[in-house]
Amino acid sequence: MSNSDLTPRDRFTSRFGIIAAAAGSAVGLGNIWKFPYVAGQGGGGAFLVVYVLFIAAIGLPVMLSEFSIGRRAQRNAIGSFKNLAPRTPWFLVGVMGVAAAFLILSFYSAVAGWTLEYIIKSFSDAFAGRDEEELNLMFSTFVSGTWRPLFWQLIFMVLTAWIVVAGIKQGIEKYTKVLMPLLIVMILVLCVRSITLPGGGAGLAFLFNPDFSKLTAGTLLGALGQAFFSLSLGMGTLITYGSYIQKNNNLSETVIQVSVTDTLIAILAGIAIFPAVFAFNIDPAEGPGLVFITLPNIFQQMPGGYFFSIIFFTLLLIAALTSSISILEVVVAYIVEELHLTRKRATILASVMISVLGIFCSLSLGILSDFRIFGLVIFDLMDFTASNLLLPLGGLFIVLFVGWYLGAGPARNEISNEGALRLGYFPLFMFLVRFIAPFAITLVFIYGLGLIRI
Ligand code: TRP
Repeated sequence: MSNSDLTPRDRFTSRFGIIAAAAGSAVGLGNIWKFPYVAGQGGGGAFLVVYVLFIAAIGLPVMLSEFSIGRRAQRNAIGSFKNLAPRTPWFLVGVMGVAAAFLILSFYSAVAGWTLEYIIKSFSDAFAGRDEEELNLMFSTFVSGTWRPLFWQLIFMVLTAWIVVAGIKQGIEKYTKVLMPLLIVMILVLCVRSITLPGGGAGLAFLFNPDFSKLTAGTLLGALGQAFFSLSLGMGTLITYGSYIQKNNNLSETVIQVSVTDTLIAILAGIAIFPAVFAFNIDPAEGPGLVFITLPNIFQQMPGGYFFSIIFFTLLLIAALTSSISILEVVVAYIVEELHLTRKRATILASVMISVLGIFCSLSLGILSDFRIFGLVIFDLMDFTASNLLLPLGGLFIVLFVGWYLGAGPARNEISNEGALRLGYFPLFMFLVRFIAPFAITLVFIYGLGLIRI
């Protein structure tokens, strides 16, 4: 008897619900906070080109693979591999995913906590009349503090856990459907304000005129990691969500819709940020503070900026929540289905462990900043290990699993809804999962980690 016979699984109830939930997972701090700052560090245009290439050649096939695995197996990230490949070590891919979920949420919740602080700052009109330097100082003083960032991070974890306990249908769909489109509108408004700032043109040139001489091995690895991070890939999030997708959903269509939405929002965030970065003389390689310094600068220079800033940071918080619940869900679905704890207990257990790890991430930007491993503070170490190592590695094994272990037959059955859909592009998909994606990931890995020099 399969698992699904024992307990009727939660399901997304509508087609839009799936897209909203998967896009809700994908669209988050990765698009608005992380993309501009890693693109800025990676030299702008050249980074963007590589990033988009990685999404097309690697991201799309990995995403379709994850959905297929989850929907076919009807289990969590680890259980899915146990179901489809019993008595093999493949389940370790899921184990790696659960580990990555711990690392990612520990720093993700810290940054999400910053958005809470910035909502409060917006309410008290704290940005008004401040120049770039003062806003920079405001940010660095806050994140290097001890209690305030920790307090917000904890609040954020409680919010995340609360939604996850509520379950899939009521929890996840409800929050995503309405607010995502509103976020897009807000970003568009910001784009207009940013582009029309005097001197903003240089920012567009920075983002859209690639200078390939700036491309380094590290940048390539960073772009790959960012592609995985932004699309929520390589960790089993979309295996888990795939298991909640109805059997008659057209998976390929969902993949395209989610990836296009996610990529467009990242690029729009870039268009909103970089013109302002150049107009205000901010360093594009500023790092994790980039949007928290640039955006307040834009807000205070636009009519109604006070309200925009409140609304924007609130929407950013919600975007972060719809992502963080999808990260926590990976761990919770695993604990519930494989270790048989109740959903509530599983959520509390996972959240407490992640919060403890999160404390170290947060403090590593302040009192623990001297503690470094491989030259990285804990915050950066978690991010690098999870985003640039575990996620691409997970993605590599996921495409290898679908391409070579599961094979064309079952993959075609799942993606075509047991033959109901015609799939003209299926050979291309198989070619990508069997050869192109594994080869590209491996190459970027060994090159990016400095194992070979070209
Ligand atoms: N994609 C989300 C963002 O861009 C973060 C995220 C959610 C994630 N689930 C994930 C990242 C799984 C990696 C793996 O903010």
